[in-house]
Amino acid sequence: MIVDLRSDTVTRPTPGMLEAMMNARVGDDVFKEDPEINELQREVAAYFGKEAGLFCPSGTMSNQIAIRCHTRPGDEVICADVAHVYLYEGGGIASNSGSSVRLLKGDRGRLTAGEVRGAILPDDDHLPRTRLVCLEDTVNKGGGCYYELSQIAAIAQVCHEHGLSLHLDGARLFNALVETGYDPVEYASHFDSISICFSKGMGAPVGSVLIGSAAFMHEARRVRKSLGGGMRQAGYLANACRYALKNHTTLLKDDHRRARAIGDLMHDHPQVKAVVPVETNIVIVELQNTTAAEFQERARQLDVLCLPFGPDKIRFVTHLDFGDGHLEAMREAFAKW
Ligand SMILES: Cc1ncc(COP(=O)(O)O)c(C=O)c1O
Repeated sequence: MIVDLRSDTVTRPTPGMLEAMMNARVGDDVFKEDPEINELQREVAAYFGKEAGLFCPSGTMSNQIAIRCHTRPGDEVICADVAHVYLYEGGGIASNSGSSVRLLKGDRGRLTAGEVRGAILPDDDHLPRTRLVCLEDTVNKGGGCYYELSQIAAIAQVCHEHGLSLHLDGARLFNALVETGYDPVEYASHFDSISICFSKGMGAPVGSVLIGSAAFMHEARRVRKSLGGGMRQAGYLANACRYALKNHTTLLKDDHRRARAIGDLMHDHPQVKAVVPVETNIVIVELQNTTAAEFQERARQLDVLCLPFGPDKIRFVTHLDFGDGHLEAMREAFAKW
């Protein structure tokens, strides 16, 4: 049995999800005539108490659309130095929006209100205009850690005082919400826009939804078109997301339990120096007496797939296709290390 812990994006649709996809009613979404996409957008917006949603092919595109809508060329975006929007979206902030980026250290990629306040530039011709703050929750590079709602509220207050917009990369927002139990509407009220992915822990093959005000989404739709993201009979895909929203959110708790079990297992591993505290479905370990590449190769020989996360770090991510049987198989495999 191959145990694939490289990412929560490796899942395949379940039989129930495939059936929902097959039963989709579809139409041309560029004409706003796809019933399932219209429903998905409405459902996700309502779930978070926002006015409108926009179905996008990827989390990268929905983040990049949001950043482009919030900024003008020459503006500046504040985010963590490990933020996906900065590090893993192909330099998109520069190429799509023409904005510069102010990187903050944060705590495992979680910013504080004080840090954000300190990074806002004064209104001066010489300086870029600080315009947008982007948070990520959970933080991928931070090992799946999540924000306290009070911290988000404090950052939102700073943004409000300085006329800045606040965007959330919520690729794994459902992981944060099932763990913290925060009310989604109260949580989302602090953000002007949120990108939510269904192709990670939620188990859909494709799809992210950007949510925010109706006026913002009108603009976002224009930008999506310009980036080539206007899709046609994509209701088949939207129905996979609708199915996930209905059936998969609560299952994330099991992913988190299994991730904690992997964390415990790795504590005892001879080549592991430290395990980053496990908060959701991501486990990052710091290695000793080996390199990430060597560790990955040895694990592969034992049928366990993982990813290097820097020269001396390895990442494991639990997901819908990793059950208790896989956890047991991993335990047995690593016992042979
Ligand atoms: C935190 C975070 N944001 C955004 C994305 C982008 O999602 P996509 O791969 O759908 O573009 C990812 C992808 O893994 C991610 O981990």
